[in-house]
Amino acid sequence: MSFIEKHAVLEKNLTLLFAASFVVVTIGGIVEIAPLFYLQNTIEKVEGMRPYSPLELAGRNIYVREGCYLCHSQMIRPFTDEVERYGHYSLAAESMYDHPFQWGSKRPGPDLARVGGRYSNEWHVEHLIHPQSVVPESVMPSYSFLATTELKVEDVQGHLIANRRVGVPYSDEMVENAEADLMDQANPDADWSGLEERYPKAVLGDFDGDPTKVTEMDALVSYLQMLGTLVDFSVYQPEENYR
Ligand code: HEC
Repeated sequence: MSFIEKHAVLEKNLTLLFAASFVVVTIGGIVEIAPLFYLQNTIEKVEGMRPYSPLELAGRNIYVREGCYLCHSQMIRPFTDEVERYGHYSLAAESMYDHPFQWGSKRPGPDLARVGGRYSNEWHVEHLIHPQSVVPESVMPSYSFLATTELKVEDVQGHLIANRRVGVPYSDEMVENAEADLMDQANPDADWSGLEERYPKAVLGDFDGDPTKVTEMDALVSYLQMLGTLVDFSVYQPEENYR
């Protein structure tokens, strides 16, 4: 029997075909999955990563609610053109506190993984209210209502607790202070000492130009302004396994 004929037997017998497919898929699966158990860790620990501050987390929820991920990725791939345009390629650790992650799969707009600090708060507010006023050819829709919608704060503690349940290391102190931290981050007159200790590098101050109330705009801009800023890439060294 030639090889083709033997294969024909397999193709004509359903049970045999399923059994053989199962064996092949099992071997393939083991080859893919087994090495993950031998690596020291699958997510490299990286200096600087911390959970989102309550205001940033609220901003992130708005980002998800508004579907910004439908036009923006947060995943810089390790290709020269991307690294030159957006900065250091994204590390797995940079999205380890994202539930759900915001890597995205469509890019009508630019990648936002490192947009933090690239523009002023005023630019972001202007851009979100009327994108075409700063980038005339933009196809991004207006989100002007964010500036007039006060942020709901009652549920922020719940959001921290929900994130803690899926593994984000929010301490009891962070949960206790969640509401106060949220209000303080956007208040230029607040005492920021505790907040800064709990959330190093959080961008502080009024974001939307109206310090009298905390709006959804404040939250979203505080989130955008911290994206990609936690890891200091001037001193970052990949671990042995990852080079
Ligand atoms: C229909 C697609 C679309 C949606 C939805 C969208 N954007 Fe955009 N966005 C764009 C495009 C296109 C650009 C590039 C032109 C510009 O700057 O406006 C852009 C640019 C940006 C920039 C500037 C990035 C840079 O590096 O210059 C930011 C920040 C941004 N968008 C944030 C958001 C946020 C936050 C949301 C959700 C509230 C959002 N976008 C929703 C299409 C979109």
